[in-house]
Amino acid sequence: MKKISFWWIIGMLLLKSASAGEGMWIPMLLQQLNEKEMKAMGMRITAEDIYSVNKSSLKDAIVLFGRGCTAEIVSDQGLLLTNHHCGYGQIQKHSSVEHDYLTNGFWAMSQSEELPNPGLTVTMLMKMEDVSMAVLSGLTNELSESQRNAKISENIRILTEKAAKESGFEVVIRSFFNGNQYYMLYNQVFKDIRLVGAPPSNIGKFGGDTDNWMWPRHTGDFSVFRIYVDKEGKPSEYKPDNVPFKPAYHLPISLKGVEEGDFTFVFGYPARTSQYLPSQAVKLITEVSNPHKVNLRGTRLDIFKKYANSDPKVRIQYAAKDAGVANAWKKMIGESKGIRRLDGIARKQQLEQDFQKWANADVAFQKAYAPLLPAFESNYKELEKLTLANDYINECGLGIELIRFSAMFKPLSDEASKPKTDQKKLEEMSKKLQNQVKEFFQDYHQPIDIEVAEAMINAYLNNQPTDFRPDFLNDINNDFKGNVSDWVAGLFEKSIFTSQNKLLAMLEDASPRKIRALQKDPALLTLKSMRDFYETRLQKPLQNLNASNDSLQRIYMRGLMEMQNNKLFYPDANFTLRVTYGKVEGYQPADAVYYNHYTTLKGIMEKEDPNVYDYVVEEKLKALYKEADYGIYADTNGEMRVAFAASNHTTGGNSGSPVLNADGQMVGINFDRCWEGTMSDLMYDPAVSRNISADIRYVLFIIDKFAGAKHLVDEMTIVR
Ligand code: ARG
Ligand code: ASP
Repeated sequence: MKKISFWWIIGMLLLKSASAGEGMWIPMLLQQLNEKEMKAMGMRITAEDIYSVNKSSLKDAIVLFGRGCTAEIVSDQGLLLTNHHCGYGQIQKHSSVEHDYLTNGFWAMSQSEELPNPGLTVTMLMKMEDVSMAVLSGLTNELSESQRNAKISENIRILTEKAAKESGFEVVIRSFFNGNQYYMLYNQVFKDIRLVGAPPSNIGKFGGDTDNWMWPRHTGDFSVFRIYVDKEGKPSEYKPDNVPFKPAYHLPISLKGVEEGDFTFVFGYPARTSQYLPSQAVKLITEVSNPHKVNLRGTRLDIFKKYANSDPKVRIQYAAKDAGVANAWKKMIGESKGIRRLDGIARKQQLEQDFQKWANADVAFQKAYAPLLPAFESNYKELEKLTLANDYINECGLGIELIRFSAMFKPLSDEASKPKTDQKKLEEMSKKLQNQVKEFFQDYHQPIDIEVAEAMINAYLNNQPTDFRPDFLNDINNDFKGNVSDWVAGLFEKSIFTSQNKLLAMLEDASPRKIRALQKDPALLTLKSMRDFYETRLQKPLQNLNASNDSLQRIYMRGLMEMQNNKLFYPDANFTLRVTYGKVEGYQPADAVYYNHYTTLKGIMEKEDPNVYDYVVEEKLKALYKEADYGIYADTNGEMRVAFAASNHTTGGNSGSPVLNADGQMVGINFDRCWEGTMSDLMYDPAVSRNISADIRYVLFIIDKFAGAKHLVDEMTIVR
């Protein structure tokens, strides 16, 4: 046997710290829990520089963008950077055939040209406090779970109302560690957010869904916005004479770039992770639910693709739908593969065996912890059938656009069917629906939907048991002798929801009698059949099992923390501000293959294919590449870097987050993860879990040299 030397051990220790990347940490606890490790990994600033309530700090520049992304303030005039895919909805709304900003990009050359976005908000955390004691006060062991929850809700209500009144901020309390800790968050919400700039889609979305979730990547996934406030500097709804916001802090931007091994951290709003689930839950997600959903989505995507490839109009109509279906589809494939590769279920089972042994060994722990795992076991066993039944409603039934669209009319038809109809209300509802009808048909191609419907209904019939599915499926067997094509043909022939004109005419009259007839429409009847099935067979048991699992999970979480009492735990992501840190590093995705930690403009030219939509390159970008005209944005070799990979533990919601270097200067915008590592929401693997970021130098190069909007770069604080 090889002799283990002292140096070997030191080497292993170094190796261990070099790959530390797991964890989404609470900014307020960084000093206590993480600062030492962060400094050991290379950080040169302090935890207090990142999060402070006493002085301005990095946190003053980080905001929740809309409801699902992160953005950061990069100038003293409230300029914001986020991802292109985060600003996509806004860019699309401002686009028309004459001004196609999605295709061509948009740049406001002065503040007066910046475009308002009603409904878009930006939320800034002012401070946070641990309120666990107050939220959990008054709870006794005698309370049932529902009494316990009621008491907690009541405590939360009283605490938030009081804090909101005293502080003038919007206050929320969030649960951490599955209900073992609670934090109060004081937020300021800005409501006048204007679009400043966006690159053309073939830069902002270069590689499209083909490259999505993948490294190596060449996407310039960024867009630019600005926060406006009233003359007193207070958040306000859009007003033409509002002024740019003056933040307490804005991020300096470094042109020095990052190299393999450099320390980086990501500061943002990760949405949801489930790191502490028992093995049965991981199995249900990755071995049962994901594979079914992946198949169903794959079928739909194939149909979309067939039509999109033969008709450019259809490709545009289905671009956003396709992106939505494809994003989760690809993520689930990566997640299930990743867990299998990690042997994740067996690892969890091992932990559970240890837990059970530990719990049984001590009378003090036995009562609370010993029954947990068997209870999980039986709950998740019961959940399997219910989860799949629910998945099939959502993916198959509602995967048919006609059915999903008809659901929008359910409230209207219910209103018309009341014994005493309120004509005024009916007219108001009809009026609102008119726009939705027009929007729907603008992006609807019926031949696709018919083909999808046939495929989905067949899959539904083949995969869900006769005694546990909506009645309409059994009617297909009885009334149509199982001929799905006939049933689908009848659905599309008889339903009013296939006809824009008929629908608009109906909404125009708003006659209760005609609207009432919707109750007999085959699309709404199908929807009703699924709803009835859900309400009678799924809803109650799902609610009960989920509530039971929530409470088991809370106790299991506490137990894990007690058992491994010298391990540092981080709470699952819950859409609160977090810091995650790691290093810039490539990885080995497969045997004999190594991926470098950065990509360059040369790679864009290599991928270029004028015949493949995802790989079309702008003429102007090609010209800039030919001249190698990168100015101050080039790396030390004179190359243009586009993106880089690092081991920061991120998830959905981290999109748009700044990636910062050891000095707290911005070096990139986070936008994705690599496919091999997407199981990180359930189990992080330091060997292959990587976040993907646009190199900030590419972003500035596009703004300055490509778009000619240098005035925006001049506004920023650039460190050379
Ligand atoms: N995968 C990234 C995320 O989960 C980017 C999604 C948007 N891009 C796309 N090609 N669909 O949000
Ligand atoms: N692309 C994701 C987002 O939009 C980020 C991720 O899942 O890594 O938030």
